[in-house]
Amino acid sequence: MFSISTYKPLMDAIETASRDEIAALQLKRLQWSLRHAYENVPAYRAKFDAAGVHPDDCKSLADLSKFPFTTKADLRDNYPFGLFAVPREAVSRVHASSGTTGRPTVVGYTANDVQTWADVVARSLRASGVKPGMIVHVAYGYGLFTGGLGAHYGAEKLGCTVIPISGGMTERQVQLITDFRPDVIMVTPSYMLAILDEFRKVGLDPASSSLQIGVFGAEPWTNAMRGEIEQAFDMHAVDIYGLSEVIGPGVANECVETKDGLHIWEDHFYPEIIDPETGAVLPDGEKGELVFTSLTKEAMPIIRYRTRDLTRLLPGTARTMRRMEKITGRSDDMMIVRGVNVFPTQIEEMLLALPGLSAHYQIVLTREGRMDEMEVKVEARSDDAEAANRDAKLLAKRIKDKIGITAWVNVLPPEGIERSQGKAKRIIDKRAKA
Ligand code: DLL
Repeated sequence: MFSISTYKPLMDAIETASRDEIAALQLKRLQWSLRHAYENVPAYRAKFDAAGVHPDDCKSLADLSKFPFTTKADLRDNYPFGLFAVPREAVSRVHASSGTTGRPTVVGYTANDVQTWADVVARSLRASGVKPGMIVHVAYGYGLFTGGLGAHYGAEKLGCTVIPISGGMTERQVQLITDFRPDVIMVTPSYMLAILDEFRKVGLDPASSSLQIGVFGAEPWTNAMRGEIEQAFDMHAVDIYGLSEVIGPGVANECVETKDGLHIWEDHFYPEIIDPETGAVLPDGEKGELVFTSLTKEAMPIIRYRTRDLTRLLPGTARTMRRMEKITGRSDDMMIVRGVNVFPTQIEEMLLALPGLSAHYQIVLTREGRMDEMEVKVEARSDDAEAANRDAKLLAKRIKDKIGITAWVNVLPPEGIERSQGKAKRIIDKRAKA
């Protein structure tokens, strides 16, 4: 792991601009983006008209709160290309969500958008400590998912050598990491754990691999998980955030020198935090649902998109742009167990504090009569069953003490839980829907 004390970050000028400069740029771009959406997307025009607002009403950044929200339902209702603001011929790339829960949501990019995206990913990589000339192993999935191609174009733009391996075939991942000696890996944190297992399985010490930096995202992961990965690989583990509707990876990224939450690239994406119940905008520092408005996107401007991700906005540290706290979870991932709200990340923090348990876990919810039952399935860290069972009891106790619910902790042998090759599925909810 390289030393932060001698590290010199590479930055765009805007990353250290004053707040006034950033706000002036944001307002100019916001006014353009609202007008672009209103004039070129009938669905936005209809929504703005119904809410009685016009782009001319946006005289300050705070005026954005007068405009209606956009949700996943709007993308589905306008499937596939109805939210595009440019003729289809001007769209040079399309991505889409997997659509496991309904119609896929489709997003489009002009050639300029693809460049903007590459720029924000290159900036994210620089913030992570990546330098031109480094070798970057991209194990995010390629295809309609934005992870692989988003990471790829950004790493190329920064001037790196890119290995587009995509997700899966874990043995080959380890072989190519050993043979090509990449400096950087970009992958979901849960799949990084599968790669870690494979290193150990073939008798290689992960700490002596060539990897110096991991740029991990696409799913929630905790600081405890960061510690786990950094220690095993002797590398820096940095958080990257994004979502397809807003652009893909590269909306926000941690700076390696501080690792204190993710700086939002506010010159392209305007963040708000709202109360998820009332929709009211909350002041910086308060926790709520993250909402984004694109400031520069041409093919598919997005106005006040409700991400469902829960976090809060904090002032900048390593950069002047604001930070978002590491995401605790999505409102969709919030489990309500006997009336108590629980996120998988809370369980993750607790189980990683116990040396007998590994980072591979899943939460199964069932209902007996009217009572919700929560089972935490977790793999033992080693063959020492006694240590694992002792820690399982401790975990159940801590869940009871800190969250207030009785959970059954079920310890499985190593490899007892199916590995993800992309985003991990943490919750299996078997309760009948009311
Ligand atoms: O996951 C884009 C991405 C790819 C981000 C690679 C980072 C790295 P979607 O498939 O549209 O896009 O899923 C977006 O994933 O709303 C969050 O709930 C979650 N997510 C993404 N990054 C993080 C992160 C990509 N760093 C959804 N921490 C988002 C927590 C994340 N959750």
